[in-house]
Amino acid sequence: MNDDLLTTYQLAPSILSADFGRLEDQVRLVMEAGVRVIHVDVMDGHFVPNITIGPVVVKWIRDRVHESGGVLDVHLMIENPGRYVEAFAAAGADWINVHAEACTHLNAVLARIRAAGCKAGVTLNPATPLATIQEVTGDIDFALMMTVNPGFSGQEFIASVLPKIRRARMLLPDTVGLEVDGGIGPETIEAALDTGANLFVAGSAVFGSAAPGAAASVMIGAMENRKELAD
Ligand code: DX5
Ligand code: ZN
Repeated sequence: MNDDLLTTYQLAPSILSADFGRLEDQVRLVMEAGVRVIHVDVMDGHFVPNITIGPVVVKWIRDRVHESGGVLDVHLMIENPGRYVEAFAAAGADWINVHAEACTHLNAVLARIRAAGCKAGVTLNPATPLATIQEVTGDIDFALMMTVNPGFSGQEFIASVLPKIRRARMLLPDTVGLEVDGGIGPETIEAALDTGANLFVAGSAVFGSAAPGAAASVMIGAMENRKELAD
């Protein structure tokens, strides 16, 4: 697994917005544009109102993603996520992130993700205080800040979360990645980049486009500009 992907600028297209009739082809298109992180949104109809996909879909695309040097970033929007860690790891997940709101024993769930050989992430909904993860910063490989209320792609970016993301960057060690998810597109990515986050999920802005590869390239370009400015 390529550990550098956690702490460098990466676009993580969410396959939730992809055409599932030609999923492998859609993944190929974005990976050819330079994408190395594929985001998989798992929803159970309980933690969030929507129902989406499970380990079987991860298994379908894992070879395509891994052969191109990429990783599968699995976002569990489900109740009792600890119960499914091993199933997703066996299916090919590389990174697994769970919602703090869904874990009674967050520390134990994070340990279970690492024990399964995956990178562990913790996710916060827009209204959940940053302090919720204060005691687990040493137990995670990345944190994910939601900029929409989870459940659906294509929702409007909630800009009031931006100060929390900035504070998250200050709280977390440099070795821990910081991801933003929800409503990210060419118009909102600059504000998200300003926070110091390095991983950006984009669903409808990539796969809702007639040319997902080109749409991904635009946002990868925005990250490249930041990298040049920092150098
Ligand atoms: C929301 C999901 C997101 C979503 C992103 O519940 O976690 O990953 O698919 O989609 P957009 O980029 O369209 O907001
Ligand atoms: Zn997501």
